[in-house]
Amino acid sequence: KLKKEEFKNAIIDLKKEKNAVVLAHYYQEKDIQEVADYIGDSLGLAVEASKTDADIIVFAGVHFMAETAKLLNPSRKVVLPDLEAGCSLADSCPPDQFKAFVDAYPDHKVVTYVNCSAEVKALSDIVCTSSNAVDIINSFPPEQKLIFAPDQNLGKYLIKETGRDLVLWEGACIVHEAFSFDKLLKLKNENPSAKVVAHPESEPHILDVADYVGSTSKMINYIKTSEHQTFIVGTEAGILHELSKQAPGKTLIPLPIHEDNTCACSECAFMKVNTLEKVYNCLLHETPEINIADSIFEKAKEPIVKMIEFSA
Ligand code: 13P
Ligand code: SF4
Repeated sequence: KLKKEEFKNAIIDLKKEKNAVVLAHYYQEKDIQEVADYIGDSLGLAVEASKTDADIIVFAGVHFMAETAKLLNPSRKVVLPDLEAGCSLADSCPPDQFKAFVDAYPDHKVVTYVNCSAEVKALSDIVCTSSNAVDIINSFPPEQKLIFAPDQNLGKYLIKETGRDLVLWEGACIVHEAFSFDKLLKLKNENPSAKVVAHPESEPHILDVADYVGSTSKMINYIKTSEHQTFIVGTEAGILHELSKQAPGKTLIPLPIHEDNTCACSECAFMKVNTLEKVYNCLLHETPEINIADSIFEKAKEPIVKMIEFSA
């Protein structure tokens, strides 16, 4: 069995040999981030996937991200280290139930958060990420009625930010829903100069006391360019690795989760299913490969392309 450094070197060699790239989300374990050609938030990763000329994209992230990469750049082979790398938010929106929901609001356009299956994207007018959600909602004329799915926390944040009356699907992310409000208040008391930075998948009472709300990339950018020193960071703990590189002098306090939660800190069990060894194996064997059914391909692609064009 290879050791960590040997896996890293073997991945680097295989990438050259096979003309492959590794795209990694900030929530991946740090060893995976270190072999990545690009690390980013959902929007950055989608843009990168759409323009790469590599023959193979190893998507070190979760299933919906790999599907998005395949939809945007179908002539590339897209592999995911482990098919079990799913997402509670995507799972909270089964396509058949979502279709019935959409059919009940025939005069509404459908805006979906990228954290959903290709089948749900195929039922959407436009996709968004947490980087561009406010702008995408605001791009519709005020009289246009809108459904927003699947994240109700991001949805409630969008209602507050845009003043629109969105019809929400009641999905949520298990990681961002687990943050403890009591512990946040205690940390704020103990660190009065700390700024609270939170991901919009967090619950409204957390976002109400946050000094900054944004996607993972935007959170990193806010912290590194801020004049402040100390930050309470409300998102998955994997982001601390890139933050320690991009904002080396800052004091970073991860926001704790409820005690009764099964995992010890704010880790996404789905993201952490991927390991360095699985990245190596999927690149070596070029499996498991992500493909999208022909019957939904064009319909699922259209709303993502619209989003990419909107954000360009
Ligand atoms: P972003 O990196 O786009 O902010 O998304 C966070 C997330 O939860 C991805 O699953
Ligand atoms: Fe899904 Fe939440 Fe994990 Fe992101 S952090 S992949 S939204 S379960």
